Amino acid sequence: MNRPYIFINIAMTADGKIDTFERKGSAISSKRDKERVDQLRAAADGILVGGRTLLEEQPRLTVKSEALREGRIQRGLSPNPVKVGVATVADIPLDSEFIKAGPARVVIFTTSQTSIKQLDSLRALGVEVFVEDVPRVDLNKMMITLKKIGVDHLMVEGGGRMNFELMRLGLVDELTLYVAPMIFGGANAPTLADGLGLTRAAAIELKLIEVEKWEDGGVFLRYKL
Ligand SMILES: NC(=O)c1ccc[n+]([C@@H]2O[C@H](COP(=O)([O-])OP(=O)(O)OC[C@H]3O[C@@H](n4cnc5c(N)ncnc54)[C@H](OP(=O)(O)O)[C@@H]3O)[C@@H](O)[C@H]2O)c1
Repeated sequence: MNRPYIFINIAMTADGKIDTFERKGSAISSKRDKERVDQLRAAADGILVGGRTLLEEQPRLTVKSEALREGRIQRGLSPNPVKVGVATVADIPLDSEFIKAGPARVVIFTTSQTSIKQLDSLRALGVEVFVEDVPRVDLNKMMITLKKIGVDHLMVEGGGRMNFELMRLGLVDELTLYVAPMIFGGANAPTLADGLGLTRAAAIELKLIEVEKWEDGGVFLRYKL
């Protein structure tokens, strides 16, 4: 395959929300789920997030457990996977955790709508920036580039629009979900898959591979696409 193996991991509420209407990066995962996510990160070559998640959550996207980081080093890898951000206009604050937290290789895919000044500032901080003169980042092309730079196993951690677009383009192999026992509600709160949506005839079919009922009241689900 000329692209990485791609899997989405998301924590959502029982009503499918991945944040509240306030969009402040609400905590949804339980302690056990956070540990599972850390293991997934440690096993990935890269972790991708959409631009809005980058701006609203400022995620660190690093492996939290020292033992897991040590395990990566033992396997001849860097302590953290490559961090990948996608944004039409990459106005990510230069002091954000996405850029600073590491050590990690940081890669941003953007368009020429990002100012030259911002591109220069990102590069001066060691960020690898891929820029194209297009209205939106070409996600198919981006995946080929990621494979070329050594990302064979890519974890996607949202948000809703990025998840949807990747699934719509057939760029997702696997979906893992932690469904927390809570409801956020709100028509404008982000969900697992946002964007324009599909007709019933075009719905993306999933194959359920694993279901676990957890003692914290949550449910863990694994699907193949
Ligand atoms: N619970 C969880 O596990 C979890 C995980 C991650 C995020 N979240 C939440 O999700 C929310 C953010 O989700 P979101 O849907 O608003 O945004 P998002 O999916 O994080 O980001 C979409 C971004 O990708 C950019 N983009 C660039 N090229 C694109 C392309 N070809 N196709 C699609 N997008 C492209 C968009 O830019 P343009 O629109 O300018 O083109 C936009 O900035 C936040 O509230 C965050 O906290 C929750």
